[in-house]
Amino acid sequence: MQIEIKEMMISDYHEAMSLWQQTEGMCLRVADSREGIEAYLRRNPGLSFVARSNGQLIGTVLCGHDGRRGYLHHLAVAHEHRGQGVGKKLTEQVIAALQQNGIQKCHLFVLNENTKAIQYWQKRGWQHRHDIRMMSFVSSDDTHV
Ligand SMILES: CC(C)(COP(=O)(O)OP(=O)(O)OC[C@H]1O[C@@H](n2cnc3c(N)ncnc32)[C@H](O)[C@@H]1OP(=O)(O)O)[C@@H](O)C(=O)NCCC(=O)NCCS
Repeated sequence: MQIEIKEMMISDYHEAMSLWQQTEGMCLRVADSREGIEAYLRRNPGLSFVARSNGQLIGTVLCGHDGRRGYLHHLAVAHEHRGQGVGKKLTEQVIAALQQNGIQKCHLFVLNENTKAIQYWQKRGWQHRHDIRMMSFVSSDDTHV
């Protein structure tokens, strides 16, 4: 199977959203609207990727950075293409792109209940931080899309 990894463009949005809606553990918010993702990609060029097999979108990963740390979101691989290294390839692309931007550390957020994803990240060398508690402030409505 030929897997092609390319930078995510806003033209990928429709297929990406369709994958996200079918993916367990994915939290979709107003920020994931077409306008939100378009602004995100514009602000973080060269850091988000899609995987395609025979032209069909089968995987995504979003990443941005704040000049100091990277933040990875929405790593998703279609069920029928899992276990074939697609997630690994997408993550490696992100880490390489961050390094090209001088960013050596990346964070991500996983729901506590998403034990499979936590195991996946740990197997891939990501460290579960017990020393940090995440806190958020919501300044306006940020409900599900
Ligand atoms: C997590 C996910 C992206 C993995 O994608 P994938 O393409 O199947 O992963 P890969 O094939 O690249 O796996 C790479 C390695 O991780 C291992 N792995 C895959 N899933 C795993 C799991 N649930 N637990 C532990 N290891 C796992 C593979 O065995 C492989 O190991 P190897 O390199 O020793 O062979 C995919 O399962 C998914 O879309 N899950 C739902 C969405 C999700 O939870 N995303 C993360 C949100 S933070």
